[in-house]
Amino acid sequence: MINYSCVLTGKEPMTLKRSWHKVTIMCGIVGYIGTGEAAPIILDGLSKLEYRGYDSAGIAIFDGEKINIKKAVGRLKVLENLTHGGETMPGYAGIGHTRWATHGAPSDVNSHPHFNKNGTIAVVHNGIIENYIPLRNKLLGKGYEFISETDTEVLAHLLDYYYKGNPLEAITKVLHRVEGSYALGIMFADFPEEIYAVRKDSPLIVGQSKEGCFIASDVPAILKYTRQVYYVDNQEVVKLRRDHMHFYSVDEEEIKKEPVTIDWDANAAEKEGYEHFMLKEIYEQPKTVTDTLSPRIKNGEIVIEELNMSDEELKAVKKVHIVACGSAYHTGVTAKYILEGLVRLPVEVDVASEFRYRNPVLEEDAMVIVISQSGETADSLAALREAKSRGFKVLGIVNVVGSSIAREADSVMYTWAGPEIAVATTKAYSAQLAALYLLAMKLGRVRGTIDDALFASLLSDLKKLPNQIELLLGQKQKIQRFANRYVGAKDIFFIGRGIDYAISMEGSLKLKETSYVHSESYPAGELKHGPISLIEDGTLVVAISTQPALFQKTISNMVEVKARGAFVMAITCEGNKAIEKAADYITYIPETNPYFANSLAIIPLQLFSYYVAVGKGCDVDKPRNLAKSVTVE
Ligand code: AGP
Ligand code: GLU
Repeated sequence: MINYSCVLTGKEPMTLKRSWHKVTIMCGIVGYIGTGEAAPIILDGLSKLEYRGYDSAGIAIFDGEKINIKKAVGRLKVLENLTHGGETMPGYAGIGHTRWATHGAPSDVNSHPHFNKNGTIAVVHNGIIENYIPLRNKLLGKGYEFISETDTEVLAHLLDYYYKGNPLEAITKVLHRVEGSYALGIMFADFPEEIYAVRKDSPLIVGQSKEGCFIASDVPAILKYTRQVYYVDNQEVVKLRRDHMHFYSVDEEEIKKEPVTIDWDANAAEKEGYEHFMLKEIYEQPKTVTDTLSPRIKNGEIVIEELNMSDEELKAVKKVHIVACGSAYHTGVTAKYILEGLVRLPVEVDVASEFRYRNPVLEEDAMVIVISQSGETADSLAALREAKSRGFKVLGIVNVVGSSIAREADSVMYTWAGPEIAVATTKAYSAQLAALYLLAMKLGRVRGTIDDALFASLLSDLKKLPNQIELLLGQKQKIQRFANRYVGAKDIFFIGRGIDYAISMEGSLKLKETSYVHSESYPAGELKHGPISLIEDGTLVVAISTQPALFQKTISNMVEVKARGAFVMAITCEGNKAIEKAADYITYIPETNPYFANSLAIIPLQLFSYYVAVGKGCDVDKPRNLAKSVTVE
């Protein structure tokens, strides 16, 4: 018998207007089997994944006789209330899910877990089953009935179809049939002593403690219980029992895996008194930059052991291709200016979704760099595979240890930013910049474009960055007051030249993703080719001007927009007095090498976006429509 109950939050479920392939996916999976009560553990784990965004939540628990399911549209709190914090769902084994709808609106019936027809197999799923329509048609032809609009439900029925008493066999048969991306938690009522985990192209880990075994789509969910985790590889199946786990290949062969020890602090995934994770992470940047820089500066030299490239190999590089998405792409654009200016190496920077389909020309001796915070971004991962399939070695600059990009890249330079929870990246962005500075300096040193004097001065400026960031963070209140004036803004423009253009792009993205204020970034010199027609009385134009060689040029562009009614906020270097004529409001950054200015200019821009978003009452850490890791293209 199925005990199946749902809650609606009052509102009619919205219809998804988005096409599924453009939707970002995240959501969470937690599973547990052990000596403790499963439901509270699973609910607690799901709460640690809430930051990823979701629209409904559900849980399946084996009560000794049958699998019970409860689901609730809306916040996890609704499910917690419904189950009295899990108390009304006794049992030692279960799976839970927070859903971000892709197929079928967020509704009670579409929430996970999904059941087979007689409620003996329960499934939770992150990702998308791309061939769900033919599978659904096949199953309909065999008499199966579907109660939801989800792609996930085909998995429950397909498992039922292949299940002949052996869960592993049924799961691997399903894996051979489904296409797309998935992380799954599965339970079979016939096997109450087991739960199963499997994944392809959607992250999933498992872990073990004295109290039992765990499944999670991300580390924070189970960090409280264990630090020893196993990263499940594509198409691996894990059978979890109370006191052990077995790993199998898609051909049902048992495999051995080594655990990875998570060494970051569990508190790193808590807000620690800050109003939002975003603000906490903005404040962590001095530490993030220090942690990324200092292990790689030894005795006055830059040592990047993990590059796995000899000086000869670094000298032989003829071109650099940088591939990434979003903010990571913006750090790549900054790196282009640095590598070309400082190292005289030609650089192409691509948005990963373009790179993977444009059939790029990769010359021999090219170095390919993929930058990613999450290490799971589908387009970046696909770009990495594209480069590797053509015989190129790929360097990953990645934050999440053990993530897919980190594992598939030939070498990995980790950005030691720790877990980043807010969807809008701040500290990982700063850590990526720091890693790229090191790489550029290393290349310049080896290739002879940076002499001893320049190297010493760059190194000295690099070391000052964390304190200078700290100093800028001290301007919080001033920026908050300024941001409050723009809570009602319709459009904001960000302009700059050279590296300042790269900063503008990030400033604009930060603003739009957190506050939903429309904004554009332009190379300052490009304004007069069209966008200047959008400037009206009072339009805010944020002009970034940190490159002394371009000060005058940017001032001219500021004057142009001011003459058309714009209010100009400038971010510039201490001592740039000339800008006072053209700007209405100025934030100064401390003196540094112009190549490193991005690390400082970004701080007021992050704070500005944060406070506009707070002022508007936006869900700062979980902006609408966005995901922390975008595991679909
Ligand atoms: C950053 O604030 C954005 N949310 C987004 O652009 C992000 O940088 C992009 O999705 C890439 O993510 P990744 O670094 O995890 O690959
Ligand atoms: N595609 C599935 C659905 O829409 C899973 C979405 C998710 O990852 O939460 O139900």
